[in-house]
Amino acid sequence: MELNKLVGLVTQNPLEQLVTFTVKDEIAFGLENLKYPEAEIKKRVKEISKFLGISHLLDREINQLSGGQMQLTILSSFLVMNPKLLILDEPIAFLDQKSESLLLGRLKRLIKSDNYDLTLIIIEHRLSRIIDIADKIVVLNYDGTIALNGEMSNILRNSFNELKVCNLRVPWLLNTFYEYDRSIINPVDFQEAIDLIQNLSINQLEKLKKVLINTEIHPDYLKKYQNFDRLIEFDNLYIESIKNHSSGKQKTIPKNYLEIKKLTFKYPNSGITALQNLSLQIEQGDFIGLVGPNGSGKTTLLYLLAGLYEPKSGEILYRGENIQNFDEYEYAQKIGFIFQNPESMIFKSTIKDEILYAPKNFNILNQIKEEYINKLISLIGNESPEKNPFNLSWGQKRRLNLSSIFVYNPEIILLDEPFIGQDQYTIEELIETLYIENKRGKTIIISSHDYHLLLKYTKKIIELNHDGTLRDYDTNGNYFKRHGNLGPIILLNEINKQIQKKTGDE
Ligand SMILES: Nc1ncnc2c1ncn2[C@@H]1O[C@H](COP(=O)(O)OP(=O)(O)OP(=O)(O)O)[C@@H](O)[C@H]1O
Ligand SMILES: [Mg+2]
Repeated sequence: MELNKLVGLVTQNPLEQLVTFTVKDEIAFGLENLKYPEAEIKKRVKEISKFLGISHLLDREINQLSGGQMQLTILSSFLVMNPKLLILDEPIAFLDQKSESLLLGRLKRLIKSDNYDLTLIIIEHRLSRIIDIADKIVVLNYDGTIALNGEMSNILRNSFNELKVCNLRVPWLLNTFYEYDRSIINPVDFQEAIDLIQNLSINQLEKLKKVLINTEIHPDYLKKYQNFDRLIEFDNLYIESIKNHSSGKQKTIPKNYLEIKKLTFKYPNSGITALQNLSLQIEQGDFIGLVGPNGSGKTTLLYLLAGLYEPKSGEILYRGENIQNFDEYEYAQKIGFIFQNPESMIFKSTIKDEILYAPKNFNILNQIKEEYINKLISLIGNESPEKNPFNLSWGQKRRLNLSSIFVYNPEIILLDEPFIGQDQYTIEELIETLYIENKRGKTIIISSHDYHLLLKYTKKIIELNHDGTLRDYDTNGNYFKRHGNLGPIILLNEINKQIQKKTGDE
């Protein structure tokens, strides 16, 4: 038997794996190559697309899919072949919560099912996502040697600190209790945690609450960025430039910084309406999380804000002026766009050329100090400026993307799913960088499915409905209070309830 029939490898970058024209063809491709009868192919394609919830997309063209839709298409194209071993490299990174739990649930069923003899290897940074499905875990060191290897439950209970040291994104619940008291046995599921807090005293509850807020809701360490003077203590060239940007005094912030008015966008030639009648205002210095299900128009909205697409109707105003009226590079220079796929914004064959690419285009190369360029190169890691960017790791490519926009000092930074493929440390590093940029007055909009990170780090949330209309737009606090179905918020509410109850009892 051929090896490729037995093994499927779904890589991290969905686009590079798609080979055909429509979703239907893509899923059928492997079976067709193996000369399966047509009726059998049809049947399997139908089954598998239903299984992963993408039946409605079968006739769609591949290049008309959102990131999450693409990921599900590729997965289908592998599962349809009934592989014996399936290797998935961050399979849920692009998925919304519904598709994520659908997919994980389905994979779990496949593994447990007697009809399939499937071994699954999932590469994933967020441990919480796979505790339920993986029996074993292998953690690698930077050099590829094995750091930890064993039964999942055993490692979670007994080697939690080692997991943290390995820079993994550990499950928030375990982490909270671990930080609260290292001597207790960590609750692994929510019910255990709720049971546990029933027996805590008021003082213990207060302590747990503080730890929870600090680790998962509003980290203390970020407060230093609220204080401009403290920030300067981070003395380095990168941060030096803040001094020139802010007098430390509160400036008056124009309300109408970016204004979206009745915006509707249809993809030409496809008739797909991605955004509908969207109206909202963005203030200068906002730090916004952009959320919504797969295909709700997040990426499209970022493209429109960047001036890369033209609205079908409605308009986007920058300081009161329609962005269509600006000269070609005038508005583009205000925007730093970090695309969903880091490779799609790398154009040059060396790191240094890549960083100089935009300044050359904008004709501002002579304004940029060599020292600053070196600093931007060093942000990527200890790499030669002459290295080919395509040989960097995914995370490093992402950092190169950042350096290549920071170099021309854009006012508005748009990031499409920037957390994908990043470990704990690089996420914190990215967030610190963005906080500093935000402190310098930059406006930041991050599209992401990672509600935990958005809760922790952003200041406002825009939520889109699946049909591209606006569902909600509010400050972070209000938003998460209203949509309080996120673990840390539920636990916080439970702790508050207990505190109230125990105070009443006394
Ligand atoms: N180039 C394109 N041509 C036609 N339709 C497209 C194109 N790109 C996206 N679409 C469609 O427009 C809608 C919005 O897509 P968009 O990529 O903005 O969604 P998204 O919210 O970013 O989704 P995801 O969370 O999966 O990244 C979807 O229905 C998608 O299939
Ligand atoms: Mg998207």
